[in-house]
Amino acid sequence: MSMDSIVSLCKRRGFLFQSSEIYGGLQGFWDYGPLGVELKRNVKEAWWSDMVTAHDDMSTLAGAPSPYAMEGLDCTIIMHPQVWKCSGHYDLFHDFMVDCRETKKRYRHDQLNGRWVEAKGNKIFVTAPASDEEQGHMTKRALKFFNLRNKHIDDLKWEGESTCLTEMTSFEEVLGPDAKTLGTLTEPREFNLMFKTYVGALSGEEGAAYLRPETAQGIFVNFKNVLDSTRHRLPLGIAQIGKSFRNEITPRNFTFRSREFEQMEIEFFCHPDQSKDWYMYWRDRRLKWYHEMGIDSGNLIMREHSPKELAHYSIGTADIEYAFPFMAEGEYGELEGVSHRGDFDLRSHMEGKLDEKSNPLTLQLGDDGKPKWKGSGKDLNYRDDLTNDKYTPHVIEPSAGADRATLAFLCEAYTVDQQPDDKGKMQERIVMKLHPRLAPIKAAILPLVKKDGMPELSKEIYLDLKKHFNVFYDEKGAVGRRYRRSDEAGTPYCITVDGQTLEDKTVTIRERDTTEQSRIKIDECEQVIRDRINNG
Ligand code: GAP
Repeated sequence: MSMDSIVSLCKRRGFLFQSSEIYGGLQGFWDYGPLGVELKRNVKEAWWSDMVTAHDDMSTLAGAPSPYAMEGLDCTIIMHPQVWKCSGHYDLFHDFMVDCRETKKRYRHDQLNGRWVEAKGNKIFVTAPASDEEQGHMTKRALKFFNLRNKHIDDLKWEGESTCLTEMTSFEEVLGPDAKTLGTLTEPREFNLMFKTYVGALSGEEGAAYLRPETAQGIFVNFKNVLDSTRHRLPLGIAQIGKSFRNEITPRNFTFRSREFEQMEIEFFCHPDQSKDWYMYWRDRRLKWYHEMGIDSGNLIMREHSPKELAHYSIGTADIEYAFPFMAEGEYGELEGVSHRGDFDLRSHMEGKLDEKSNPLTLQLGDDGKPKWKGSGKDLNYRDDLTNDKYTPHVIEPSAGADRATLAFLCEAYTVDQQPDDKGKMQERIVMKLHPRLAPIKAAILPLVKKDGMPELSKEIYLDLKKHFNVFYDEKGAVGRRYRRSDEAGTPYCITVDGQTLEDKTVTIRERDTTEQSRIKIDECEQVIRDRINNG
């Protein structure tokens, strides 16, 4: 199956349209059509129900270290600019950065220079922050690395001019500006993709604000509010679904990398000693959810990040990835990241620790030479009422994209098979085998023919079912063609009113995937549909 066929079905059947299409579209922005909006709502509702409202907080779920509570939040898209300073997004989300795994320091990729130098039969690329003193700094670093004294300075054989680290394709032979060993710099990562706006009448920098690039920070800054208002003990998960915005350099692959998208995030607060067990629990729980929603396990993988790949806040991250049709054979695209964020965020919002300690190069100093800003200064630690234990909770973050999940469900559902038409001749059929919980329309109500009172009775059934489900009434064209249209929309059941219905008040119910039909009473329709949706 090709991505082009899916994109074309999405447009033809009203799942997805390019934003502002009549003006030529806007890259990285997508609109959900009548079927798409229902599908995406169902994805979000399934997530919310399974993770939050229907969560069993009285039992220890399989794989969980203990019972836990779940609550929801809905925060604003524009937040106090300080939030983004403390989260690291303001300083770090705007460029390519490299981290040193050894010293935990971070550098702008384009602000490190280096030179090749050879001594004792080894050749390395030694780096230093771009400055007038860089050569002096590099020389000192090279002498130390090769264990040479100043008097042996001539043993250093320098090659070429100083060049920017951006010229290097591999960092294996690179000595970071403060590192003792080679190859400790991570691959460069892009930052500060935040959209800027201005709040109120102020158009200067005093009014500058940002559209959130993740929903997570709204949860961190409300951690104490949720804790105090709900009186929960830890472990506690706080969930949020909402729009996020990133000014992606290269939006691509349909909705996969958009500039406006929706996230479904949980920040799970727990005792540091239990955080590794919770991390394992959430990785497995979230992978299982995609299986439960109909994604074949063969198309889904869990990939643990190598230390090199970890984001600045992360102690460990596993991505749940799907074999999207636009990926090369054997490659997968990220659906969700499950991260162990440690106490990074709560600490940053308390102390502004990130910039003071870990990010000396981007630290902004005021006229007095002190950091221009700090954390909130509020105590975001947790005190357990029963044990009196006080600590900064660790956080496990399952962070999913609602649009990427929706796209994966669309790709997974797209199936082409052969089915007999009205005359028994085999025909190709496109069928969207969406999980019934996710299907935009749950049932199509079809009079077999447009006469003999069948449309009237069908409309009665339709209006009755409409109170409970999103259903669709269709009387146009041959019934076989109407089945095909329903199959393409992913509608799991077709209820057909025929001659027999008028006699015994029974209808046929047709299953989308098998096309099998059975007869049920009109009165049973609601319960049968409900049972089948719930049982997948
Ligand atoms: N709070 C952590 C966080 O935001 P992330 O990996 O940057 O982590 C989480 O984003 C999820 O959000 C991704 O797994 C993906 O599903 C979705 N996402 C991120 N950027 C996206 C984009 N540009 N377009 C669509 N979805 C995106």
